[in-house]
Amino acid sequence: MTWWRHGAIYQVYPRSFQDSDGDGTGDLEGVRRRLPYLQWLGVDGVWLSPFYRSPMADFGYDVSDHCDVDPAFGTLEDFDALAADAHRLGLKLILDYVPNHTSIEHPWFREHPERYLWADAVPNNWVSVFGGPAWERHGDRFYYHAYLPEQPDLDWRRDDVRTAMLDVLRFWCERGADGFRIDALRQLFKDDRRRDNPLRPGWHAGDDPYDRLIPEFTTDRPEVQDAIRAFRETVGEERLLLGELYLPIERLVAYYASGLDMPANLHLLSTPWTPRDVAALVERYEAALPEDAWPNWVLGNHDRPRLASRVGQPRAAAYLLLTLRGTPTLYYGDELGMRDVDIAPDRRVDPWAFGNRDPCRTPMQWDAAGSFTTAQPWLPFAPDHATVNVEAQREDPGSLLSLYRRLLALRRSEPDLLSGAYRTLEADDRVLRFARGDSIEVTIDFESGDGSIVRSAHGREGVNKR
Ligand code: GLC
Ligand code: MG
Repeated sequence: MTWWRHGAIYQVYPRSFQDSDGDGTGDLEGVRRRLPYLQWLGVDGVWLSPFYRSPMADFGYDVSDHCDVDPAFGTLEDFDALAADAHRLGLKLILDYVPNHTSIEHPWFREHPERYLWADAVPNNWVSVFGGPAWERHGDRFYYHAYLPEQPDLDWRRDDVRTAMLDVLRFWCERGADGFRIDALRQLFKDDRRRDNPLRPGWHAGDDPYDRLIPEFTTDRPEVQDAIRAFRETVGEERLLLGELYLPIERLVAYYASGLDMPANLHLLSTPWTPRDVAALVERYEAALPEDAWPNWVLGNHDRPRLASRVGQPRAAAYLLLTLRGTPTLYYGDELGMRDVDIAPDRRVDPWAFGNRDPCRTPMQWDAAGSFTTAQPWLPFAPDHATVNVEAQREDPGSLLSLYRRLLALRRSEPDLLSGAYRTLEADDRVLRFARGDSIEVTIDFESGDGSIVRSAHGREGVNKR
C-alpha cells in the first residue's frame, strides 16, 4: 500500500507554525525545528501551504516566483534542510501547487501577458470567489481573476503555460517533494465560449456573493481532467496528487479517473454536526467512490472556521476523522482544540471580506510562553494559548492531543481501522455507531461529545484504553 493510503496528512500553515528569525512570521527553518513534534504525534505526511515568492496579497497564494522561497519564509537552502530532515524522520513532504493563477507581480504578467485570459470588454457575468466582478480593467483591456484582482488566472489552453507550469512540478520533485496539494483545481479551465453563469435559485442578499451564480462555466470543466493527466505524467506514479475541489460528491469522485489520488473530500466542513447527517454523508460518499478509489476526509483547513469553534466537540470530531475509512487531513492546532480567534479590526489582514480567514490562521500554541515567536506575531495568539497548548497537553493522557496521538497509533496497529469496510450500525439523535471491517466498532456520542472504539470480534474489549 502506498504511504498516503495508510498515512495521515498534517497541514502546516508556515506563517503560523514556528518563527525562527524573530520577525513574528513563521518560516521554513521554524517548521524544520518542529518536525520532531509531528513525528511524535504520528502523522506521515506534512503539507506545507505556499512559501514561494509572493507579494502576499493572498498570503502566498499569489505567487510571483514558483521556484523560489519568499524571504519571509527563508531560502531554498532552508527548504533543502527541511526536506532532508523530514525524510530522515520518515515524514513525507507535500507542497502546495498553485497552477490556476499567479501574482500580478509575476514577471509573466508584464513579459508574457498572452499567458493570461483577456477580453476587450467585460464579456459576461462571471464573479470572483472573493467578491465583485471577475474581470479587471488593465489599460484598455480586461483580464480574468477567479480570486483577487492581484491574482490573474493563467490560460491553461496555451502550450507555453502548460510547459512552464509542469516545469514547476519537476523543479520541486527534484528538490524532494513527495506530493502536491493542487490549489483551486476546479477553476483551472473556463468555458471557451465564455457563457454567462446561471443564477442560483434560493440565493439571498447576505449570503456569500459568490454563491449568487452557479459557477457552471467557470469551474469543473471537462478540460481539467487533461491537465491532471499531465500532472500525473510529470510527477510519476509514486507521488501523491491531492486536489482542492469544492464540488458535490458525485462530481468530486469523477476526478479519480484522470489520475488524482485524492480529490479532497471537504464535505465534513459543511455538513451539519448530527449523527444522521454525518452518517448520510459517509454512506453517500462511500457509495459514490469508484472501485479502488481511496477515500479521504478533511475537518479543517486554512480557509474555513476551526472545528473546535464550529462543532464544539473536538474529541468526537477526532474520533470521526481518524476512524473513517481513508486518509485524514489534520489542520495544525486542531489536535490541541485550537479555536477561531476574534481578531480586532485593526489587526485583520485577510483580503476576503465575506469569509475572513484570520481567525483560523493564528499562531500555533506550543506553550504558555508563546514560543511561536519572540516578536509580535503576525496574527495575535488565541486568548486561551496559556492553557491550550502542546506543553500542557503532551504528558496528560486525558488531553485531546493524547487522544489524537493514540488514535493515529491505533490506525497503524489495527488493519480494519485502516482499510476495513465502513458500515453504519446506528444513527439516531444522539449516537453514530459504525463498523470498520469485522473487528472494529466505533461509537461517537454527539451529546457528550466523546467517542469510543471496541474490538467487536473479541467480546467488545476496549482498544482505546489509556
Ligand atoms: C485556495 C486556497 C485559498 C486561496 C485560494 C486562491 O482556495 O486554499 O487559501 O485563497 O485558493 O489561491
Ligand atoms: Mg520568521
